[in-house]
Amino acid sequence: MILQKKAVIFDLDGVICFTDRFHYQAWKTLADSLDIYFDEKINNRLRGVSRMASLEIILENAREEYTQEEKNLIAEKKNDLYKDLLKNMSPADLSEEVRDTLQELRKRGYRLAIGSSSKNTKFILERIGLDGFFNAVADGTDITHSKPSPEVFLVAAEMLGEKPEDCAVVEDAKAGIEAAKAAGMTALALFGDAKECGLEDYDLTGFGNLLDLLQ
Ligand code: BG6
Ligand code: MG
Repeated sequence: MILQKKAVIFDLDGVICFTDRFHYQAWKTLADSLDIYFDEKINNRLRGVSRMASLEIILENAREEYTQEEKNLIAEKKNDLYKDLLKNMSPADLSEEVRDTLQELRKRGYRLAIGSSSKNTKFILERIGLDGFFNAVADGTDITHSKPSPEVFLVAAEMLGEKPEDCAVVEDAKAGIEAAKAAGMTALALFGDAKECGLEDYDLTGFGNLLDLLQ
């Protein structure tokens, strides 16, 4: 399959870098401290959804009710733990495959953007040496509804000045594939959760596979 697109919008956590494992680690530490059951399968449901929506999913297994104030505190603690893990990241955490593919897409004339639910997006891009690389960065600080709402991808397309139908989205989350489809974009699935949802337009064999589709 060859796609006729002008722009590519990338999810960040789990696509550009493997911060998804840090999200899991931080939530796991918190869930354990609150004696709430949490595993990788539940963690897959958190992919692409906002911090507070993630907490609500985790609390489905809680034995007690939490007030809004307590929930805010838990979310804040999770973010502190998560940010501590992010501090250890460096440009070495950007894989060669991702770096080379992004550079080649840019050479071929594609406009490149980030579309992430994370409010830590800019910090992460700085850590991995991609600060200023993308033509547009739409993240959790630009939106009121996180994925599966199409908002973040529509904001990214608007920042790029491109029509939704001219954009392809790369996602590792079911919520992200749903968001891309709702935005009227072509949804490319990378890794398990996105590939298993059955809503994607194409299953990527790896990040570098983008170079076969976008010529
Ligand atoms: C998404 C992650 O990219 O960002 C979710 O896939 C996460 O798991 C969401 O909950 C919000 O992230 P942050 O960094 O704002 O807590
Ligand atoms: Mg993701």
